[in-house]
Amino acid sequence: MFCLAETEMVPLPTMQWMDGFLRLLDQRQLPSEETYIDCRDIDSLAEAIRTLAVRGAPAIGIAAAFGAVIAALTADPGKEYDDAFYSKIEMLERTRPTAVNLFHCLEIQRDVFRRNPGRENAVRMLLESARNMMQSDLDASRRMGCFGADLLDKGSVILTHCNAGGLATAGLGTALAVIYEAWDRNLLSKVYADETRPLLQGARLTAWELSRAGIPVDVLPDSAAASLLRNGEVDAVIVGSDRIAANGDAANKIGTYQLALAAKAHAVPFYIVAPLSTFDISTSLGSEIEIEQRGRDELACLGGRKLLPEAAGVWNPAFDVTPASLITAIICEEGVLFSPDTESIKSVLGGVH
Ligand code: MRU
Repeated sequence: MFCLAETEMVPLPTMQWMDGFLRLLDQRQLPSEETYIDCRDIDSLAEAIRTLAVRGAPAIGIAAAFGAVIAALTADPGKEYDDAFYSKIEMLERTRPTAVNLFHCLEIQRDVFRRNPGRENAVRMLLESARNMMQSDLDASRRMGCFGADLLDKGSVILTHCNAGGLATAGLGTALAVIYEAWDRNLLSKVYADETRPLLQGARLTAWELSRAGIPVDVLPDSAAASLLRNGEVDAVIVGSDRIAANGDAANKIGTYQLALAAKAHAVPFYIVAPLSTFDISTSLGSEIEIEQRGRDELACLGGRKLLPEAAGVWNPAFDVTPASLITAIICEEGVLFSPDTESIKSVLGGVH
């Protein structure tokens, strides 16, 4: 596989394990400020995940895996030590319901804890396991970037939604790993990034990441995407995912489904890029995926200004589900699944889950 990315892509400092605590790039402050927050206990990490200081499916999972190390370090020693550890893990599990990576990574950490009794031993092995997850995520990103770029022609214009970049992973991204690789191979002409209401991950984060890498990016209102596709301005839509059901239905940031419908209507390929840790074969259909509902303030206020009359309610789902029938292919670290279905997903997962 031809792959420049292995040498040239530099991970973003999304998170770093320091000596005994987790340092997170505070994504709530981007792009105006590059500040960091240090999580030394589970309360502060749970708050960071809930409020999207760290966000994006793989990044949430890996941050929680380091959270298990913090849980083992901060649980009260003594005869209730194991219970105290597990109750901290449950606290992390309650932060955000949709991205399966969170549950997947914490399940691995529970198992590591079970197999390594004794505080010191547990801390050492949990840390090793979290570091391995981080490394696998970086390796998976590189491979997905290469497989995805193989699908693009010279001069490609890509439309993406939300942020599926280094900020959403251990540092290289999923959808954006394809974009970085395509840029390295001189295949990319430009990127359009949906602004991604209401939290503006596309405008604040994707545009920041791509500009930082010197990649031309134009931001558009989410509602303009269908017109852009109809005008023939886009060669492929490339997005990430938070959970892929056994039949290939994929949950991602709210607005992805309408993008997939518009892409289908205008015969533009629609690709999902996600590592195997995002697949959930215990969920048969997309309709079974729990969709996180978020608070009123995200829609009712902007920059401290009130946008809604008091009497107006809100409906604010953070994600939606795109049916497999609208997905041209899912790109994972094992290759490209065209027209994904239960059969192809089962075979690519093999013994993984
Ligand atoms: O609410 P967020 O910002 O955590 O949502 C993130 C997304 O929807 C991403 O597209 C998804 O996690 C894929 S990231 C590689």
